[in-house]
Amino acid sequence: MKKFFTLLIAAVLMVTFPANAQNSQSIDNADAAADVAGDSAEKFYASLPQAKGDYKSKRRPILIEGAMNVETEILVRALKNPVAYRELNWLFVAGTYENYPVVVVRTEQGVANAAASTALAIKKFNPVAVINQGTAGGHDPALKIGDIVIGASTFDYTAIKTPYTAAGAGFDITQQEMRGTYAYDAATKKFQPYAEYRADTTLFNMAFAAANDYRGAKVVSGVIGTGNAWLQNLDHINFLHERYGSSCEEMETSAVAQICHTANVPFIGIRVLSDNITTGHDYNPHVAKSCQEFVLLVAQHYIRNILR
Ligand code: 5AD
Repeated sequence: MKKFFTLLIAAVLMVTFPANAQNSQSIDNADAAADVAGDSAEKFYASLPQAKGDYKSKRRPILIEGAMNVETEILVRALKNPVAYRELNWLFVAGTYENYPVVVVRTEQGVANAAASTALAIKKFNPVAVINQGTAGGHDPALKIGDIVIGASTFDYTAIKTPYTAAGAGFDITQQEMRGTYAYDAATKKFQPYAEYRADTTLFNMAFAAANDYRGAKVVSGVIGTGNAWLQNLDHINFLHERYGSSCEEMETSAVAQICHTANVPFIGIRVLSDNITTGHDYNPHVAKSCQEFVLLVAQHYIRNILR
């Protein structure tokens, strides 16, 4: 009988805490943001020559980032002589574009992945500039699916402090204070909190020059809100839009800006609207293509006007 109970307890424990090397459980988010480029991009990436040894380049490359295959495949296919590097399971592809070195990284989704892969890329490739790009959900009802937002600034909308409220009292979202995220400040030689990160002025100007040449989508300047979340509460979204001027939300830009600020690397975020709950438009990841086309044009302007 005692043995029976021991086995029973062991069985219950195994269900609750399955033997898993990483002791974590993954969930299926296919409904929210399935990577529609999926297998074909994966096969293409696997077919690329694998790097042997360290990256070497006379010129510092431009680093262009996307979280998913659907947000990186066009960029990687645009590279001449692509070579794949893998670090801690992130994929980086180095090649040239317009005869200038460019590295594309698939950051994977979310702030931690974006920050970590950016820090690795900065150490490994020493980029002259970082462009984070991809899809985003609209906070501004004036923005349509396919419109592109050049991020004049980006902020982490989760970096807040709320006032105390008692259990069961509910809460008023407008009572929050911005705490900001911590990045290295060269003046004080300390990590300090930042409520937002502004785009590098030169990259911003090049993005606007590219916008003048681009007919593929409407391009506007705006504010990119970042968090590890996908918001659908219109009260929350409208609050972020009104208080912080957010044009759109996504899961990487501000985290990358934070790392670039610390590492003193020029940065800009550029996002295409894949969904806009404020106008009732659902997620369409295929617009990620035009964002990459536009970003390649930004890179072309930057290479021709600044880096040459
Ligand atoms: N909310 C949050 N992230 C979004 N993304 C696209 N639309 C949204 C949205 N409405 C982006 C994120 C992440 C993936 C889910 O797509 O940056 O990488």
